[in-house]
Amino acid sequence: MKTHRIKVALGDRSYSVLVGHGVIDQIDEVLPKSAKRAVVITQSTITLQPELNIPSTTVVIGNGEEHKSLQTIEMLAQKFAEFGLTRNDVVIGVGGGMVTDIAGFAAASWHRGTAVVHVATSLVGMVDAAIGGKTGVNISQGKNLVGAFWQPSGVLCDLDSLKTLPQRELRCGLGEVAKYHFLTGDDLLALEMPERIARCVEIKAKIVAADERESGSRALLNYGHTLAHALERSSNFFVGSR
Ligand SMILES: NC(=O)c1ccc[n+]([C@@H]2O[C@H](COP(=O)([O-])OP(=O)(O)OC[C@H]3O[C@@H](n4cnc5c(N)ncnc54)[C@H](O)[C@@H]3O)[C@@H](O)[C@H]2O)c1
Repeated sequence: MKTHRIKVALGDRSYSVLVGHGVIDQIDEVLPKSAKRAVVITQSTITLQPELNIPSTTVVIGNGEEHKSLQTIEMLAQKFAEFGLTRNDVVIGVGGGMVTDIAGFAAASWHRGTAVVHVATSLVGMVDAAIGGKTGVNISQGKNLVGAFWQPSGVLCDLDSLKTLPQRELRCGLGEVAKYHFLTGDDLLALEMPERIARCVEIKAKIVAADERESGSRALLNYGHTLAHALERSSNFFVGSR
């Protein structure tokens, strides 16, 4: 089956995004050569898991925006320490945008910067969250207020994971796909799903490569997000019960 390979061109921090069925089996291609151990971060709802040729441990984090928190980062740092994860090793986030935002920020903070690989399992993750290096967590004053730019070493968008993705989450992802349609005018609906996702990744990769730190044109990618964050805040969506 065809694998689409899209490059996010950021000089010495460039990386590949692989899109296709079964691409999780190609994880060795995107792991840093220095990595001797890995911590996999995932959720109980995610069945797709990588088979690794290096020693690893898996940490399951909570589900929902209220777990995208500094408390989760502290818990992960303690797990990293217990496992003996060094700066030359790798963190692997396997999940939707919530998991990859958390895994990215935990990796950015661990020893002031440890490699991270994202395996995106939701449509939002594949076309948006896992690409571009924005990482972070929520605090009660607002969403994604604490974070860092930390580019992954590679991203895998394994289309097999979409089989278990709830319909509601698929629709959320199609909303992000619509964003790329409005930004570019591309007829994305005319494409089959693998090509549609690969095209969205290409569009995002080009915008990120032109403005990595969002000093200008990258703000286009926030189309609709700022209003959505305000709605989430006013409805206490991510504060939850904690
Ligand atoms: N960093 C960025 O550039 C960026 C961009 C967009 C969104 N985000 C962030 O991404 C998050 C939203 O991402 P999301 O929409 O993927 O939500 P999510 O990660 O919360 O996932 C939604 C639900 O789907 C489940 N799920 C994910 N993949 C699954 C699969 N293959 N099978 C079964 N269940 C699965 C999750 O466990 C969760 O219950 C938000 O926190 C948002 O702030 C970040």
